Amino acid sequence: MDYSLLLADFERRHDLSGWPRQRTVHACLRAAILGGRLAAGHQLLSTRALAHELGIARNTVLYAYEQLMAEGLLLTSRRGTLVAQVALPAPAGETMERPASALSRRAQALTGIAMPGMLSSAFALGVPALDAFPMAAWRRALDRAWRETGPFEFDYCDPAGLPVLRKAIADYLQAARGLRCDPAQVVVTNGTQASLELCVHLFTDAGDTAWIENPGYLGALSAFRGGQLRTVGIAVDHEGIAPSADDWRKTAPRLIYTSPSHQYPTGGVLGMPRRLALLDQAEQAGALIIEDDYDSEFRHDGPPLPAMQGLAPAAPVIYLGTFSKTMFPAMRTGFMVLPAGLAEAARPALARLPMHGRVPEQRALAAFLASGQFLQHLRRMRRLYRERRDTLLDALDRHFGASAAVHGAGTGMHLSLGFTDAAWRDDRISDAARAEGIAVHCMTRHETGLRKTAWTGLLLGYSQVPALDIDAAVERLAGIARNTPV
Ligand SMILES: Cc1ncc(COP(=O)(O)O)c(C=O)c1O
Repeated sequence: MDYSLLLADFERRHDLSGWPRQRTVHACLRAAILGGRLAAGHQLLSTRALAHELGIARNTVLYAYEQLMAEGLLLTSRRGTLVAQVALPAPAGETMERPASALSRRAQALTGIAMPGMLSSAFALGVPALDAFPMAAWRRALDRAWRETGPFEFDYCDPAGLPVLRKAIADYLQAARGLRCDPAQVVVTNGTQASLELCVHLFTDAGDTAWIENPGYLGALSAFRGGQLRTVGIAVDHEGIAPSADDWRKTAPRLIYTSPSHQYPTGGVLGMPRRLALLDQAEQAGALIIEDDYDSEFRHDGPPLPAMQGLAPAAPVIYLGTFSKTMFPAMRTGFMVLPAGLAEAARPALARLPMHGRVPEQRALAAFLASGQFLQHLRRMRRLYRERRDTLLDALDRHFGASAAVHGAGTGMHLSLGFTDAAWRDDRISDAARAEGIAVHCMTRHETGLRKTAWTGLLLGYSQVPALDIDAAVERLAGIARNTPV
């Protein structure tokens, strides 16, 4: 492929006046992929080689590649950067035009929500240390599970998941997170996103009200919007979700999404009195709390608070967990723990909703949990992430000093960094950093309600960043922050 020709051709056919170079390169590659000129599986040049060929800065190419990855058009493999398999639009003339209005209202409601990133460079959010995962042990567990799965188990799986896995999850949650749960309450899913969508299907009707923290998790916003719920953004303070008396009175919810162990994204930890008050108010309002406990396994300073689900005998809580953080996201396995009374009632509907459950993988996971290998891996990751967190805190202190303040560093895989100078724009700094190859997200892009929030600043994931790389990346980031126009 002659990329210079490709770019020249693109520039000839479009009016690009005023476009920054990185946008042009991104748009050119995007058009070539969607137009079929760069076919699925095509290996692109390295960023360095393409920058050299086009005579432009490497960061410009890096930015374009990262955007295309975030859009799912490129992927990385051992072979390098490849064009992903995408359903290409039919050539013009063969089909009618497809305006956005051809999408359902449910689908249209999702188009404005930012796509999840797919980057694993510093300081991408929520990505575990993938290179530290005990792959050999996991492969052995999978091998054994395939050998032990008899022909009769190749039939459809229990819609709530393999009983042996549900028991292993219930045992783990009781011991590690203080849950009160029986394996019958556990539903194995394809990850938190699938759990959220199941919650919407099982427990709401279109037009019902759902609360979501503001700023908050865009995955939950997508699930709620996709379910045609009326979503209300609820203020977040230094601890976490902080509904006002007015919120309860005027927008009584059916569902309340919250991440009390490490508020996503700000990092606050909801204290015990606030947890108990929320449970009590939800009970009175007839609401169900969705407790997203996505990264509480990694508590760096002292023991974690127990999950809200276990704080009362019949708490109105649907507890969500995921193996995306404790193992790896591509596993696409998570679980929900339903309130005892609802688990049985939901079974017939669950059996009709999209089926989950790859039996041999579920069996392997159950063995991984029961054998202690999972806990051993968690212990190692806790140490690793704490070391990376400490290195990051030192570097932030050194390079940002008094111009920034850290929040939410006691738990999890990311922290938030607020700015002392209110004029600093977190979205601009995040964009400028991305253009330089540093993947930082910002808080204002996690707003979930119509109301503006007081939260602004950067979100720094540290779990996948080698300690040795942290200081240099923070030094560059601080330089970018100081030089970004306000
Ligand atoms: C707040 C939050 N919850 C849950 C998840 C995990 O989602 P999943 O299990 O769908 O990978 C993430 C991942 O980034 C997250 O940020």
